[in-house]
Amino acid sequence: MSSPEQTAIRATGLSKQFGQLRAVSDLSLEVPRASIYGFLGPNGSGKSTTIRMLCGLLEPTSGEAHVLGLPVAGNASRLKARIGYMTQKFSLYGDLSVRENLSFIASIYGLAGRRARERINELQRRYDLVEQQTQLAGTMSGGQRQRLALAAAVLHQPELLLLDEPTSAVDPRSRRDFWACLFELAQAGTTILVSTHYMDEAERCHYLAILDRGVKVADGDPEELKRETGMHVVEVLGGLVGELQETLSDASDVFSVTQLGISLRVLLPTRCGEPEARVRALIDPVDRGARVRLVDPSLEDVFVSATRSPSR
Ligand SMILES: Nc1ncnc2c1ncn2[C@@H]1O[C@H](COP(=O)(O)OP(=O)(O)O)[C@@H](O)[C@H]1O
Ligand SMILES: [Mg+2]
Repeated sequence: MSSPEQTAIRATGLSKQFGQLRAVSDLSLEVPRASIYGFLGPNGSGKSTTIRMLCGLLEPTSGEAHVLGLPVAGNASRLKARIGYMTQKFSLYGDLSVRENLSFIASIYGLAGRRARERINELQRRYDLVEQQTQLAGTMSGGQRQRLALAAAVLHQPELLLLDEPTSAVDPRSRRDFWACLFELAQAGTTILVSTHYMDEAERCHYLAILDRGVKVADGDPEELKRETGMHVVEVLGGLVGELQETLSDASDVFSVTQLGISLRVLLPTRCGEPEARVRALIDPVDRGARVRLVDPSLEDVFVSATRSPSR
């Protein structure tokens, strides 16, 4: 186990019960400092609930978390000064300008006068908001708003940044720019925990935890996770996609079949020695013209193999 100085977040057995619903179940987690750590999971998998417990907004039903060397329980206000938090929904003031929003946040953190002005100027430059500084936040594009929200979240130079689906409302270009900002922050030593349901974003994280119905079903770095799916992935390209899918799904040794555009991704456990030949044999009676090839697992495959029970 690494030392507290190298670990930004350590959670042990974290659970949250809402009435009958177990939103987060026995979650343990270790996030190294200055890394980008992703939470990947569909809606309702417990990402927001976990993040809210980690920043002290929500009390866990059981389990505990240490953040930046302190137990979260009893230290919420002390930690607030060291954590930046960006919620899923835009939470700044639409009827204030960019600069007014940032000035307001600065005053919350006790920053005033010249120091506040300088920090705001610096953030407006870094996050490409200089031209928009007098524009009302409510009238800006999704991408501009995300940059403003990020500027607000890092205004007090937090050591840890918790980002809850920060790019769910922006176009791909803005997402790429936003991620460039995250890499820059991590490079400068900020630890970033970011939740997402986008595979391409998950791919960019240094480490990843996959959540499914409140349970962490896998974690590791993306490459390691792809290497260790325990599955062969066979791609099938053919005309009769629907019929091929049905035939393959019926085979007992096929773990899963997913349609991706005009192709199928077939997962077979690695104990199956000749996956291509096996798939070929299954589909030949349906469509002899279909093409079959072995491909490398993607994060999507990791997700499918970690979240679907083989019995279906
Ligand atoms: N305050 C709450 N009260 C009751 N149920 C909640 C509350 N917050 C979240 N939930 C439920 O907990 C589950 C996990 O939610 P959430 O953490 O928001 O997931 P995610 O962020 O991955 O979409 C969902 O089923 C959600 O409806
Ligand atoms: Mg959420």
